[in-house]
Amino acid sequence: MASTPTLHFTTPGLDEKAAARVVELLQSRLDACTDLHLTLKHVHWNVVGPHFIAVHEMIDPQVDTVRGFADALAERVATLGGSPQGTPGGLVERRAWDDYGIGRGTTQQHLAALDIVYQGVISTYRDGIKELDDLDLVTQDMFIAQTEQLELFHWFVRAHLEDTGGRLSTAGDTTEQAAAADA
Ligand SMILES: [Fe+2]
Repeated sequence: MASTPTLHFTTPGLDEKAAARVVELLQSRLDACTDLHLTLKHVHWNVVGPHFIAVHEMIDPQVDTVRGFADALAERVATLGGSPQGTPGGLVERRAWDDYGIGRGTTQQHLAALDIVYQGVISTYRDGIKELDDLDLVTQDMFIAQTEQLELFHWFVRAHLEDTGGRLSTAGDTTEQAAAADA
């Protein structure tokens, strides 16, 4: 976020300074979820290879759920007296991560890259959960519920990358390109 949002009201019982920070955390996750559901559609359209239909069809429920998260996050920003920012240009200006880097690719390449994507999204959710401990437990509850679902989807992705010894093909990789190369 470029600047702390100005709030003229917030929800009863919540300090306005705390609410301003909560709105920043919500906007950050709104941007992450908007980016993620668009990226997941891009994967849905670009996967190729023998396991195409399984992965193609696995992705759509994730798109729908994450799109629902974005709506809930945006509406909580408004509930707290803020203005949710939902246009694509603003998202690109605010985001701290690069655009998804794989075009047409095999199912294993995309799933390996999605492992890295989910690692980034989930670890930032968990940072938010910790910070919300002292700010707003209601928003924290929303973050916890969304994180649980994202972690389940992350397991769906990782189960394709795991060998029978429980090791991931993406172990030690920090970029989508490196993960895809190891797939
Ligand atoms: Fe489709």
